[in-house]
Amino acid sequence: MKQIHAGIIGLGRAGQMHLNNLMTMPDIKIVQVADVFIENISEKLNGMGITNQTRDYHELLSNPEIDTVFIFTSTDTHEEIVTAAAKAGKNIFCEKPLSMNQHEEASLNVLQAVKDAGVKLQIGFNRRMDHSSEMFMKMFATARLGLLRLLRLHHVILTYSLTI
Ligand SMILES: NC(=O)c1ccc[n+]([C@@H]2O[C@H](COP(=O)([O-])OP(=O)(O)OC[C@H]3O[C@@H](n4cnc5c(N)ncnc54)[C@H](O)[C@@H]3O)[C@@H](O)[C@H]2O)c1
Repeated sequence: MKQIHAGIIGLGRAGQMHLNNLMTMPDIKIVQVADVFIENISEKLNGMGITNQTRDYHELLSNPEIDTVFIFTSTDTHEEIVTAAAKAGKNIFCEKPLSMNQHEEASLNVLQAVKDAGVKLQIGFNRRMDHSSEMFMKMFATARLGLLRLLRLHHVILTYSLTI
């Protein structure tokens, strides 16, 4: 498998958790990281051998060595950064949600930019591989649930409550 040359944007609570996990994966090389408050975590990053650090995510996106970006910034930045990453030709993993904008068009515009760029995008949904989530997706795909208007997930030991 080809090694992924990664850039990480956003190193707060979720970003640091993901960083620790990514560091254990031999298929991933962390090339550069970015956070507007990079100085808060700089020493820890140096200790992990991650010395290529920047405050400016645009600088990371223009790094030709990076083929994939992991976006763990605050939710209100996802639309902007995912769009910029797609335009820079990077494959993208972004923490949920894609957009905070209640108008569906905002998310569709981001998805269009991703499609136009021909890059891959995955949104971090922590129960994607969960058996009960897979069961729900099968029911949805086979139209057993009808038209989906609203999905509310409560995860309490393998129990879902669905509001449709
Ligand atoms: N899937 C899950 O279960 C799960 C769990 C926790 C958080 N999240 C998501 O992860 C995201 C981050 O959450 P968090 O709790 O880590 O937030 P946080 O505030 O702890 O961290 C966000 C980080 O992004 C940085 N940042 C903000 N704007 C930036 C920019 N323009 N350029 C570079 N860095 C920037 C901030 O400085 C901060 O360090 C949120 O969208 C949240 O919804 C998902």
